[in-house]
Amino acid sequence: MSTEAKSEYANKPLTVPDVAARKGKMPLVCLTAYSTPQAELADKHCDIVLVGDSVAMVVHGLSSTIGATLEMMIMHGAAVRRGLKNALMVVDMPFGSYEESPGQAFRNAARVMMETGCNAVKLEGGLRMAETIAFLTERGIPVMGHVGLTPQSLHVFGGFKLQGRASDAARIEDEAAAVADAGAFSVVLEKIPEALANKITSCVSIPTIGIGASLACDGQILVIDDILGVYAGFRPKFVKRYAEIGVAMNDAVAAYAHEVRSRTFPGPEHVFHDMPNSK
Ligand code: KIV
Repeated sequence: MSTEAKSEYANKPLTVPDVAARKGKMPLVCLTAYSTPQAELADKHCDIVLVGDSVAMVVHGLSSTIGATLEMMIMHGAAVRRGLKNALMVVDMPFGSYEESPGQAFRNAARVMMETGCNAVKLEGGLRMAETIAFLTERGIPVMGHVGLTPQSLHVFGGFKLQGRASDAARIEDEAAAVADAGAFSVVLEKIPEALANKITSCVSIPTIGIGASLACDGQILVIDDILGVYAGFRPKFVKRYAEIGVAMNDAVAAYAHEVRSRTFPGPEHVFHDMPNSK
């Protein structure tokens, strides 16, 4: 495979204004990461690295993102920061850390920025979060919005369902417009029909980043464990697996277990011998 330059900014850190200026230009490549090695990998190829609250599911084994905590996001955020050179780093605000009031959101988002060194935070919700988005951006905290299927509202939706069908499309359009008008620098559109993603992308002035929202968006985002084939828990239609690392990991652990049981590991090359006069 050829090594494509990831963007015109490949050799310098991408900033929030750089991302905003990519509207309608080269697609924004976004991926989640939760650890330093994952961040080092993503940094080589991606424009934006999101420390998603999906960490609760793919790393901590929870059944939804609702159990992600501020401490979890900060711990994984700090690890990701250590692996990034050029990609813009965004950290998800977890459920319960920002919805109560703009003040609560500012206190927690400021903590996330100070303790992780991220460039921006992401929060879910459109119209109801507009005041908070404006409050944060006016006070130095860049915000990425997230509308459509917002997984923290899983129980309101009754599952991870497609949003913005027929009569609901206008509502999602209004949500995206509210996020953009409030000052967000980009917005994630999750699990909505292509025609709606197309309409929103042409109406809002900020880049749209799709996950299950078609090619109509200004960029795409997926969960790293999903594209690598590591997360076995749940596989939405919009996920494309680019590798089956989970299978390779299983084979490796099975081979190790077999060799320990059959006493073929450690082999002579892994063994230390007590040699006089050696250090
Ligand atoms: O938590 C997450 O991973 C997300 C996505 C948009 C990928 O919010």
